[in-house]
Amino acid sequence: MKIVVTGTEGYLGALLAPTLLESGHSVLGIDTGYYKQGWLYNGITASVETLAKDIRHVTVEDLAGADAVVHMAELSNDPLGELIPDVTYVVNHKGSVRLAETAKAAGVSRFVYMSSCSVYGVAEDTVDETSAVNPQTAYAECKALVERDVAPLADDEFSPVFMRNATAYGASPRQRFDIVLNNLAGLAYTTGKIAMTSDGSPWRPLVHGLDIAKSIRAVLDAPREAIHNQIFNVGDSEQVYRVREIAEAVGRALPEAEITFGESNGDNRSYKVNFDKIHSTLEGFRCDWNADKGAQQLVDVFKAIDLDEATFKGKGHTRLKQLEHLIRTEQLDKELFWRVQPTSGIAATGTAK
Ligand SMILES: NC(=O)c1ccc[n+]([C@@H]2O[C@H](COP(=O)([O-])OP(=O)(O)OC[C@H]3O[C@@H](n4cnc5c(N)ncnc54)[C@H](O)[C@@H]3O)[C@@H](O)[C@H]2O)c1
Repeated sequence: MKIVVTGTEGYLGALLAPTLLESGHSVLGIDTGYYKQGWLYNGITASVETLAKDIRHVTVEDLAGADAVVHMAELSNDPLGELIPDVTYVVNHKGSVRLAETAKAAGVSRFVYMSSCSVYGVAEDTVDETSAVNPQTAYAECKALVERDVAPLADDEFSPVFMRNATAYGASPRQRFDIVLNNLAGLAYTTGKIAMTSDGSPWRPLVHGLDIAKSIRAVLDAPREAIHNQIFNVGDSEQVYRVREIAEAVGRALPEAEITFGESNGDNRSYKVNFDKIHSTLEGFRCDWNADKGAQQLVDVFKAIDLDEATFKGKGHTRLKQLEHLIRTEQLDKELFWRVQPTSGIAATGTAK
């Protein structure tokens, strides 16, 4: 298959793209390169050709010849979504819907969209794909709006698929330390302690980045009728943890770290997610990782590179800090376009090969 992956220079894209190459697919990346400097360790076997371009400028010609688009390039968490909320809607909602329309116009048959379990917001009961969405932030609302607006594009030639990922964890060369398990592991390793101010009672469904990549490969390999216009929660019912259990998993990988909890702070925003559908629909799909294994993987990487506190806390691996830096230094304009677009070394009208 010829596959275009947006967001190849991000945390998850850097994990997915090499596995697609290893599976025999040809891959063209598209990424504007906001976090290019953030490279933690040399952990990949292959890198893909990546077009340095904003998704808002992608053309039919850029996608010509592709069988599938996997769309990962967005402002990727709640704090980024709140930075300039108007622009979040322009990039994450409008930009993603436009990309899906462009893919359809280019004759692409599968459009795999990276949604999020955050669309469920706060929920009393366990939620599944049939539950009502209840997004609480601009980021989550955009995910729900893209699902709403891309689903009607589905027809005999165009199959969108919506992957509602749990919160990711695990090592990636383009590491993020602003997601819960990675953050707690980095904190414990570089400071020797995790001092939680809350009791850590809220539930957080987690999934390893490599299991997300595996789910995407499963969707690309599945018969069309199994995935056409479907929503899948991506994760594992065994990996719906309380935050304190995530900290405890880090503690088992780093027994010398001191981990303490505070009182309940009344912030009980929480949801439990059911992940049965992806396991029953996508034949053979199961998660290979869990929090203990992921925490150990991170600690092994930290030891190998001698991770220091400045790197852990720096802008290279915290998305909000890097975007704030690029705006403050006026490298990005108010709409988050580069004033001078870095070059990719491949033609701006390059097509998937
Ligand atoms: N990491 C998670 O826990 C998680 C969970 C659920 C869903 N997701 C979704 O998965 C996707 C990938 O997440 P990630 O953790 O790899 O994020 P990331 O921030 O590490 O990577 C996103 C990439 O997209 C690029 N990008 C952003 N805006 C762009 C634009 N307008 N044009 C072109 N490129 C642009 C960035 O340069 C970056 O390389 C996102 O859509 C995110 O919302 C992530």
